[in-house]
Amino acid sequence: MLSLIVAYDKNKSIGQENTIPWRIKKDMLRVKELTTNQTIIMGRKTLDSIGRALPNRINRVLTRDKSSLSHYKNIEVYSDDTILENIETDKAFIFGGGAIYSMYIDKCDEMFITEVDTIVEADTKFPDFDLNEWELVSRQEFTKDAENEFDFAFIHYKRKRGL
Ligand SMILES: NC(=O)c1ccc[n+]([C@@H]2O[C@H](COP(=O)([O-])OP(=O)(O)OC[C@H]3O[C@@H](n4cnc5c(N)ncnc54)[C@H](OP(=O)(O)O)[C@@H]3O)[C@@H](O)[C@H]2O)c1
Repeated sequence: MLSLIVAYDKNKSIGQENTIPWRIKKDMLRVKELTTNQTIIMGRKTLDSIGRALPNRINRVLTRDKSSLSHYKNIEVYSDDTILENIETDKAFIFGGGAIYSMYIDKCDEMFITEVDTIVEADTKFPDFDLNEWELVSRQEFTKDAENEFDFAFIHYKRKRGL
């Protein structure tokens, strides 16, 4: 099962200057809950923005320059699509950023999206996708509070099959 996890705003923006431009604690907890004990697949820039491998997950990273990542511990480094092969966990999550979502969205079976109810300044976007290809499994709405900067929704889509 290949899954994808992302948080984007109303314009499908996901990042600005290699950071995520909002603080939604509940989203961070959801990411942790869904991906712990699973494999996460990310681009080198996303790893740099996090600054370390995320614990209790297999961290796979895509780069054209493997040597540039030698200072990181607990990562598996790839330079091509073999990053999707021989997954040993139940699920693998496409974890971002923009380049990696664009490369692999068409291979994903499901998407966990956090839609943040704002429009931020951004330099990185999630790729456009055709909603007709996806079946809504669930959608939960939340209101902003002290720990969650904007209203947001958790959305789960599964790819429609056999139509
Ligand atoms: N909102 C969210 O849910 C979310 C999630 C994740 C990330 N983000 C944000 O997204 C932004 C980063 O996204 P991004 O698109 O700039 O970078 P990215 O997708 O994280 O990483 C891009 C890097 O991946 C490597 N790469 C890409 N295509 C490759 C290929 N075909 N073969 C080998 N390596 C390849 C290259 O690394 P090298 O340059 O080392 O060769 C490239 O520079 C940040 O702002 C981050 O905070 C947001």
